[in-house]
Amino acid sequence: MRFSGKTVVITGAASGIGLESARLFAREGATVYASDINDAAGAELEASSEGVIRYQHCDVSSTDDIKALMDRAGSETGGIDVVFNNAGAGGAREKIHEIEPADWDRTMDLLLRAVAFGIRYAVPHMKGRPGASFVNVSSVAAVGPGYSPTAYAVAKAGVLHLTKMAAADLAQFGIRVNAIQPGFINTNIFTSSLEIPEEQKAMAKGVIAQMSSNAQPVKRGGQPADIAEACAYLASEAAGFVTGTSLIVDGGITIGPRESWDEDSPRMFDALEKMEEAAKQADS
Ligand SMILES: NC(=O)c1ccc[n+]([C@@H]2O[C@H](COP(=O)([O-])OP(=O)(O)OC[C@H]3O[C@@H](n4cnc5c(N)ncnc54)[C@H](O)[C@@H]3O)[C@@H](O)[C@H]2O)c1
Repeated sequence: MRFSGKTVVITGAASGIGLESARLFAREGATVYASDINDAAGAELEASSEGVIRYQHCDVSSTDDIKALMDRAGSETGGIDVVFNNAGAGGAREKIHEIEPADWDRTMDLLLRAVAFGIRYAVPHMKGRPGASFVNVSSVAAVGPGYSPTAYAVAKAGVLHLTKMAAADLAQFGIRVNAIQPGFINTNIFTSSLEIPEEQKAMAKGVIAQMSSNAQPVKRGGQPADIAEACAYLASEAAGFVTGTSLIVDGGITIGPRESWDEDSPRMFDALEKMEEAAKQADS
């Protein structure tokens, strides 16, 4: 029960990583304010919880909604101990030479401005709370190209820098700020914005589950619980000396090119060694 007596606010808590985290914090004793735009799933979470979970509608693209969420959590419980800035979606899919200003802004508001104001409006309720901390969701997409569309990757890289700046700004209040960079995690994020019939979405999820099981050195698919556990660690007393940093939880997907960890992947050096061998045989 690492979070007994603590108040935890989670955005994007109706699905995937946020949902699993809400359950984990509630199981471990916290009063959880779970928020999302999917009110039906939010109500289900509230009704089926093992501990105390209170659902509130909050579109993180709206700073008014974010403020209302933080104010409610703070005023009902006397203060906030943990904020998990998690809500997100894939955002605009266009490349930089095709993206429109409104789509760029929509993606930045959802993925970067929401985190900034999730911090901004929670801090008044976190001052004076021992061990208070933020955990912000970035992504392996912040490492570089190849993991997501451009605007998403840029926003997630921004979350890393925001995390450092906020950790510096809030050190005076004893508030820690950290980020998590999930790898390929089996959630609805890959299918929720697809404009295809529901049954095809179910098939697409099956394909994604299959792909994710061998996409990285750890030989299984990433699960929401993998990220929820990392979030709980960063928010707990065990991470009391950890601030301004990011924890990559990706089964090793970012450690290097596939040929460095996959024995079955074609290797450049194998081809060169074969040429060398052939040359030796020709000489002898
Ligand atoms: N799944 C992955 O592989 C992966 C990898 C790296 C980072 N992430 C990040 O993890 C976070 C959680 O994503 P997930 O994978 O659990 O996806 P998910 O689709 O399962 O859950 C995202 C939740 O956010 C909610 N949401 C979307 N727009 C919102 C808005 N404007 N306001 C409030 N809530 C909103 C959705 O309704 C949904 O419940 C996101 O920030 C995502 O970018 C996911």
